[in-house]
Amino acid sequence: MKKITIAIDGFSSCGKSTMAKELAKKIGYIYVDTGAMYRSVTLFAMRHGLFNADGSVKTDALKQQMSNIDITFKFNEKAGRPDTYLNGECVEEAIRTLDVSNHVSPIAAIPFVRAAMVARQQGMGRNKGIVMDGRDIGTTVFPEAELKVFVTASAEVRARRRYDELKEKGMPADFDDILKNVQERDYIDSHREVSPLRKAADAIELDNSHMTIAEQNDWLMRQVEQRI
Ligand code: C5P
Repeated sequence: MKKITIAIDGFSSCGKSTMAKELAKKIGYIYVDTGAMYRSVTLFAMRHGLFNADGSVKTDALKQQMSNIDITFKFNEKAGRPDTYLNGECVEEAIRTLDVSNHVSPIAAIPFVRAAMVARQQGMGRNKGIVMDGRDIGTTVFPEAELKVFVTASAEVRARRRYDELKEKGMPADFDDILKNVQERDYIDSHREVSPLRKAADAIELDNSHMTIAEQNDWLMRQVEQRI
């Protein structure tokens, strides 16, 4: 069977990772959550005092530290998905807090951060057989991807999903705070200068506001079957 590259982009908390992860498992592809990479850089910056009090980034200091940031993924058999490691430490939980979500967009808007992440992502997908989710996979990382999906859902639906997810994990969650964060990230992600979030011309749009997880997985599988 022919190996292809699958790019799944869309707004925050729209269920991209859920469908991408499930698909990769089903067809034996590598799964890469690029949001986890930007979140890991953010966690590093938070831990090393690289944010100013107003939430802006100490860009020069971060630039000097970039070579000290090593992000890797290791498959977690029990969880059935890859865990994210920052300099050898599993940060899978630490990168999902609202605090990290509130700091990530300005980090992801910095050109040298994006250049470093995109280079790594392209390296991981060199041999195809990969499902990658993010904001700029179909437009910048793999413009040649055989299948590009752009996922959308209303901000309220997405905030509700993230709220349920955090609650389920026993993590603190406030619906209004989450909704505000989702809306702010939508704005920053789609208005930044480098690789703003936008649908690639040849991407298929999927609005999953009213779809169950099983329905969206089936829909995605049908798209893949037409291309392999
Ligand atoms: O997908 P997730 O919500 O975990 O991504 C966290 C943040 O990382 C996004 O809000 C966005 O600012 C940034 N991001 C990005 N490009 C990607 C993936 C994520 O700018 N390819």
